[in-house]
Amino acid sequence: MSSYAIAADHAGVALKAELISELAKLGHEATDLGPASTASVDYPDFAAKLTELVSKGTPALGILVCGTGIGMSMAANKVNGIRAAVCRTEFEARLTRQHNDANVLCLGQRVTGGGVALEIAKVFLSTGFEGGRHQARVDKVMALEGSR
Ligand code: RB5
Repeated sequence: MSSYAIAADHAGVALKAELISELAKLGHEATDLGPASTASVDYPDFAAKLTELVSKGTPALGILVCGTGIGMSMAANKVNGIRAAVCRTEFEARLTRQHNDANVLCLGQRVTGGGVALEIAKVFLSTGFEGGRHQARVDKVMALEGSR
């Protein structure tokens, strides 16, 4: 059993629901931060809700879904402690956990189909950071927070 947080905007709410349901069958328990309907909302508001939790490590990992995944990643990466990655493939999801210690996965409902998105999310939630030579690089990434 693992826990993760998930949020979306109106363009990602259907994929969010599908992921919550399918990942639950595999023992991944979601904290669903909304929205509950497809009424138009602003993706930064939901990125803010999710990153408030993940930046504190409770839970350690999160998933954000919008139309492309890109707006969510831009918003999430403004928050201290967040390393958000847009992933279109399982390979990217695996490597961004192993090498970048990404803590937020961003998906695009208008870009990635539900079946592929589920496989990406499964890999993201079940892959660990390798540390080692990657730790100093991640430390340098985090040292850039607020540096300009
Ligand atoms: C909403 O129309 C769309 O702009 C949003 O979901 C996202 O794709 C932004 O990056």
